[in-house]
Amino acid sequence: MVDKNWVYVLDDASLPEGGMSPVYPKGINILLARVNGEVYALDGKCAHMGCPLFCGSIVGTVLTCPCHDWRFDIKTGKFLDAAELRLKVYKTRVEDGRLFVKISAATEAL
Ligand code: FES
Repeated sequence: MVDKNWVYVLDDASLPEGGMSPVYPKGINILLARVNGEVYALDGKCAHMGCPLFCGSIVGTVLTCPCHDWRFDIKTGKFLDAAELRLKVYKTRVEDGRLFVKISAATEAL
C-alpha cells in the first residue's frame, strides 16, 4: 500500500552537497538542505519573524537565518540559543533518484 504522506519534492541530483532549496509539497513551506550527504527537511520560515531560511547560510549543521541571525540545528530544528523554540523537521528519503518528504511526520524534534 502506498503511503500518500510521502510526497515527491525534488530530483536528488538537484540538491548538491551544502545546498539548500525551498519546496512546497501540498502548500507547506519546507527547506531542504544536504549536509555530509544527508538530506534534511525543516520549516522553510524562521521561528522568529518568518524570514525565508533558504536565503540563510549553513556552517556544519548550523543554519543561520538571513534576517536576524537566529541559529538552528538542521538535524533537530532546535533554536541554539533557546532550546524550547524549534522548527518542525520532516523525514526524508530518496527513491530512484527522487527526493521525498513525509509531510505528516513533522516532529517537534528532540
Ligand atoms: S526572522 Fe529569522 S532571525 Fe528574525
